[in-house]
Amino acid sequence: MKRTPRIVIVGVAGRLGQALRQQLSNDAEVIGLARPGIDLASPASIHAALDSLDFDHLILPAAMTAVDACESDPAQAFAINAEAPGLIAEICASKGAHLTHFSTDFVFDGEKSGSYQENDPSHPLGVYGASKRMGEERVLAASADHLVVRISWLYGPGKAAFPEWIVEKACKESTLALPGDKIGCPALSTDVAAMLLPLLGLAGGPRAGGIFHLCNSGPTTWRDWGQACIDLAREAGAPIRAEKITANTLADIPAFVAKRPPNSALDVSKYHSFTGVLPRAWQEALRSHIVSDAFLFPYRAAAHG
Ligand SMILES: NC(=O)c1ccc[n+]([C@@H]2O[C@H](COP(=O)([O-])OP(=O)(O)OC[C@H]3O[C@@H](n4cnc5c(N)ncnc54)[C@H](OP(=O)(O)O)[C@@H]3O)[C@@H](O)[C@H]2O)c1
Repeated sequence: MKRTPRIVIVGVAGRLGQALRQQLSNDAEVIGLARPGIDLASPASIHAALDSLDFDHLILPAAMTAVDACESDPAQAFAINAEAPGLIAEICASKGAHLTHFSTDFVFDGEKSGSYQENDPSHPLGVYGASKRMGEERVLAASADHLVVRISWLYGPGKAAFPEWIVEKACKESTLALPGDKIGCPALSTDVAAMLLPLLGLAGGPRAGGIFHLCNSGPTTWRDWGQACIDLAREAGAPIRAEKITANTLADIPAFVAKRPPNSALDVSKYHSFTGVLPRAWQEALRSHIVSDAFLFPYRAAAHG
């Protein structure tokens, strides 16, 4: 009889970590690690958590994800986003275990017209992207069999992201603006977790190594993504005040410390060729998230007093 695979998830409390735990628990014995049980800023903590563990796969969604905070503490960003994945990749390789490391669209500078493919040259604009890019390199240097999955514009149940923020804002304000010049691909965390399975070989078939892009299909702009969020929420009964979101530009957001890539749309054709699965359209995934009891609960609760 085939043994149930043992999978360690490092960063199980995060947005993607929660979705991964839920998805992978159907097919594997999952060991979830999070702070304070493991601190990626400390090599000693990483060794203490992993050296004596026995596992087949390790999935690493944990990272220093606050893009602007990375600019003000590059040493911490590189320790967590580059050195820690490198060390974890070496520990995995020494055990014969497979690592899946999550990376970002921010490894690109956003100057390409059209979607980025895995082998397009990276050119990060800030510390977050540079530290994540170095993490990718360290992981693949430890073993070419390890997997780096670049994702973008992540949202999903369990931890608020852009859709929760813009819908809440649209219930309070009647005039809203978002950049129409920032292009990317939204990714629903639960879809990313489900789409990872064939790359791990858990559903049969070969296991993937190297870099893959993974997100829902189709690029959009922040403005259009925001408009879709509020249109869906209004249709589902949320008390939206804003009708239309006006298009402004990235340069109109002075709060951003780090430079963001204007276009970071990810091409998923490598994933499609490898698995035969085309990720569903971002609009369909967004609808399933917004028209859900969990998303609408605060608005329904407010409507009932
Ligand atoms: N969010 C996006 O739009 C986006 C886009 C592209 C790529 N990505 C990548 O996708 C992955 C998952 O993102 P996410 O949105 O799920 O992130 P998230 O919700 O911010 O979760 C990151 C997790 O990392 C943990 N973490 C941070 N520093 C740590 C440390 N020193 N030691 C141990 N754990 C630490 C955090 O722990 P605490 O809970 O203790 O803070 C948190 O649970 C990341 O690799 C990110 O770079 C995200």
